[in-house]
Amino acid sequence: MDILVQPLNRVIRVEPGDNLLKALQGAQVPMSYSCMSGRCGTCRCRVLDGEVMEGTGTQQRPLDGEQGFVLACQTYLTEPCTIEIPEPDEVVVHPARIVKAVVEVVEDLTHDIKRLLLRPAKPIEFSPGQYVQLQFTPQHVRPYSMAGLSGDGLFEFHVRLVPDGRVTGYIAHNLKVGDAVKVSGPLGSAYLRRKHEGPMLCVAGGTGLAPILSILRGAIAQVMHNPIHLYFGVRSPRDIYGMEWLAQLQREHPGLHVHVVVASGGNPATQRCGLVTDAIEQDHGDLNGWRAYLCGSPPMVEAATVLARRKGIAAEHIYADAFYTQGT
Ligand SMILES: Cc1cc2nc3c(=O)[nH]c(=O)nc-3n(C[C@H](O)[C@H](O)[C@H](O)COP(=O)(O)OP(=O)(O)OC[C@H]3O[C@@H](n4cnc5c(N)ncnc54)[C@H](O)[C@@H]3O)c2cc1C
Ligand code: FES
Repeated sequence: MDILVQPLNRVIRVEPGDNLLKALQGAQVPMSYSCMSGRCGTCRCRVLDGEVMEGTGTQQRPLDGEQGFVLACQTYLTEPCTIEIPEPDEVVVHPARIVKAVVEVVEDLTHDIKRLLLRPAKPIEFSPGQYVQLQFTPQHVRPYSMAGLSGDGLFEFHVRLVPDGRVTGYIAHNLKVGDAVKVSGPLGSAYLRRKHEGPMLCVAGGTGLAPILSILRGAIAQVMHNPIHLYFGVRSPRDIYGMEWLAQLQREHPGLHVHVVVASGGNPATQRCGLVTDAIEQDHGDLNGWRAYLCGSPPMVEAATVLARRKGIAAEHIYADAFYTQGT
């Protein structure tokens, strides 16, 4: 049986029932992956033609994905197919692992945002913009995005304390320096695209600034010269943080423009007030050719995605990490 892989236009021979990701790897097709268990979204690709089954083991079912999109690690081949591989020159392979870490710093960034620095026993390679699952106790597990870079030696996280939040309540009241934390990952497909040379739109809502800082730091470390517009949306003036880090990044990358937008209670004489999406709307016309990185609360990410699409950014060039809650 054959599968045809675009855009490489290569034909690969596989057996019925083969796992798509394994088949692509076996044929040396450049393909991003991480968790191998359908959680991280990194191995997303598209079935243009032919039937495949989704799921694992006895749970397999015919493809029900939007516009043929599948997670290759969760897809099995039943007949000859044509598969579109996204961005074969931007492949990211960081096999997911579980590593023990120790809390080195817990400090306040604002009235309700904590900065955590964890020292892992072994390094975990990740791409700027990715996240990990942090397990503080078996009952306190949540995903958080790294603010730094893979080679930093420490993992940096910014955690907003949610009223009545189970895990953030634990972080606020129980977590202390020296505690052990299990880190698993990396996860996520909203990572920095290093080959892109055009302008970048980065939109951070609240602690969405953490993965955006990682992306900015990554772009600078990779000596990318792209113009970058960062829109940092906060609810009120007291939620603003990280200004010294952003000023430092602007010194290192003069093409970085920082726009802080305060939703309510701001001073219009000194601050930009309103919604980040309105600010982007006012500042920019056509954004065709741009790439967008959108991180933070789901409503903000959804609104920014709609705006980015309307302004001409291709759907496949919008990389979004919405901080959905699990509630378990
Ligand atoms: C991919 C990903 C990356 C993430 N990265 C970060 C990060 O870098 N920094 C960060 O602070 N968070 C991040 N989050 C969110 C984080 O995983 C938790 O959901 C969040 O910290 C709340 O956990 P909790 O257990 O305290 O709240 P829960 O006990 O799960 O929720 C308690 C109540 O608060 C509500 N709630 C939860 N979160 C919010 C919120 N943000 N705003 C308003 N109401 C809320 C819930 O609906 C619920 O009613 C990320 C989420 C995802 C999916
Ligand atoms: S490698 Fe397939 S979803 Fe993570």
